[in-house]
Amino acid sequence: MLMIGHRGAMGCAPENTLLSIHKAIELGADWVEIDVHCVADKLLVIHDETVDRTTNGRGKLIDYSFEELRALDAGLGQRIPILQEVLEVTVGKVGLNIELKGLGTGKVLTSLLKKTPETYKNKMLVSSFLMPELEQVVRLNQHVKIGVLAGNNINESIAWATKLKAFSIHLRLQKVTPKWVDRAHDLGLKVYVYTVNKVVQIRRMKELGVDGVFSDYPNRLTS
Ligand code: G3P
Ligand code: MG
Repeated sequence: MLMIGHRGAMGCAPENTLLSIHKAIELGADWVEIDVHCVADKLLVIHDETVDRTTNGRGKLIDYSFEELRALDAGLGQRIPILQEVLEVTVGKVGLNIELKGLGTGKVLTSLLKKTPETYKNKMLVSSFLMPELEQVVRLNQHVKIGVLAGNNINESIAWATKLKAFSIHLRLQKVTPKWVDRAHDLGLKVYVYTVNKVVQIRRMKELGVDGVFSDYPNRLTS
């Protein structure tokens, strides 16, 4: 079972920062997950539409210029990274799951993927709750794995995963049952589960035959 560091290793370092990604690698994560929003045609690595929770700024991303956002402190003196910086840190070391959070992210990512070597793309997975963003990536780029993030309506997400020929479906921990795991597997989908932080929960996911878990503590997967 793969261990995917959630927002890097957000239980151990400020989320979605390069420090957090380095920490996830140090703790032995197989993959890291990050969230991206589109600002000035660039992909910024941040979870929320506002900067309040994770930086020393106040307000919405759209009310800032790119340069102003980059001047904020995202914790322990870290800047909000751009996707290219994350790629430089992860390539050859750990897989990268890019979660598309905001509108327009699919289009911008597609342009970036056109310039990305195929070997990098083997260790990339693009996921989202936003099906139009994933559709955009699928339409314009055939060579990257797609993951459908499921909320409460898993039937609908499975239908989308089939339509988009997705690689994986990502289920909420609270929604995982043997039935859903088997159904997804029967359709050829990998099953990744978010967010799994307790050792007992991680063990349960392994017993259920889940293919990977997202955890804020990527060192908590014991054999
Ligand atoms: O990609 C898994 C997980 O990150 C989805 O939820 O809100 O933490 O981005 P969230
Ligand atoms: Mg996420």
